[in-house]
Amino acid sequence: MSDAGGGAPSQQIVGVASSAVELDQTLPARWYNDPGIWQRERWPIFGSNWVHVAYDHQFRNPGDYVTENLAGWPIFIRRNDDGSLRAFYNLCPHRAGPLVFEGEGCTKNLVCKYHGWAFNSEGGLLSARDFGADAPENMDLTAIQVGSWRGMVFVCLNPEVAPLHEWLGEFPNEVADVPLETYRFHSRSVRHVACNWKTYGDNFLEGYHLPTTHPAMSRDADALNYKVVYKGDPRWNIHTMPPRDASTFSVFGYFWPTFGFDIFPAGFAVERWLPRGHTHSDLIFEYFFADDAPGVEEIVKFSEEVADEDARMCEHVQRNLDAGRYDTGVLSPKWEYPLAVFHGMVRDAVGPLD
Ligand code: FES
Ligand SMILES: [Fe+2]
Repeated sequence: MSDAGGGAPSQQIVGVASSAVELDQTLPARWYNDPGIWQRERWPIFGSNWVHVAYDHQFRNPGDYVTENLAGWPIFIRRNDDGSLRAFYNLCPHRAGPLVFEGEGCTKNLVCKYHGWAFNSEGGLLSARDFGADAPENMDLTAIQVGSWRGMVFVCLNPEVAPLHEWLGEFPNEVADVPLETYRFHSRSVRHVACNWKTYGDNFLEGYHLPTTHPAMSRDADALNYKVVYKGDPRWNIHTMPPRDASTFSVFGYFWPTFGFDIFPAGFAVERWLPRGHTHSDLIFEYFFADDAPGVEEIVKFSEEVADEDARMCEHVQRNLDAGRYDTGVLSPKWEYPLAVFHGMVRDAVGPLD
């Protein structure tokens, strides 16, 4: 299965015979805690794919900006006077000062916080304040790709990667019927989870753990018939769980490497997990609902309880992976095929280890 990243499984995952199949091994524990592997993952996975980092509604006015630390690279996105978005490394070419401090804000001009070099809205150097010589050549900010899809802003550091809408492929069709533009931002939660980004990714990608890790969720919907469906692109999949009468959860989606969404009655959540080094991940939920959506507070409370259960389990798994008593396990052919695909893509991105 390690070459699954190059293939295109187009099948429903449930119902696979559980005996007489060759079982896939998990990624060995080392992949979840080796800083050297993390360094090898950063560029091909987080630098060379589009990663969701913000929303259009955070850039209402010219000059509005948002910073992010993308797998160790400091970046910011800013709305220009002409309404377009621009993104740069938040790093001045003089002596690596920041153009904006971390967080969100509005800045009419791009002036380095350290010694005051000024840049135009496209990142070109305008002036090197009191430098004592002519402004040096080739001292512009480094731009990165930025794009937005249905209100969600993504960046991609690698300039050779296709534009966002091309890169997303057929995935947007899966939420074409969800009226995202009519939903309003409700709230955000951020958990600083002590686990590698892949530990949470593995957890997101299977419904096997639902009856045991999320008993309340499994009463809310038919977790024993949770399905993960691929539609020809190994980078993404759609999860469905047959609803009961007033189910909260029904459809989830995943896009490589760390983007997920949850569809609620008259609502939608982005669920993403950004790596903070190789030992931690920020698990971020952002909720959006229609103005007349029923039971919003209960839905969010329930989702947050499920997130707590996942975060606690992932931290425990990570401690066990780090304990030196476990190397590799086996994947359920009925439930954990998506992990085999995911692990294959990670292996393909990193290449053979020494
Ligand atoms: S580091 Fe930016 S002006 Fe010196
Ligand atoms: Fe879970």
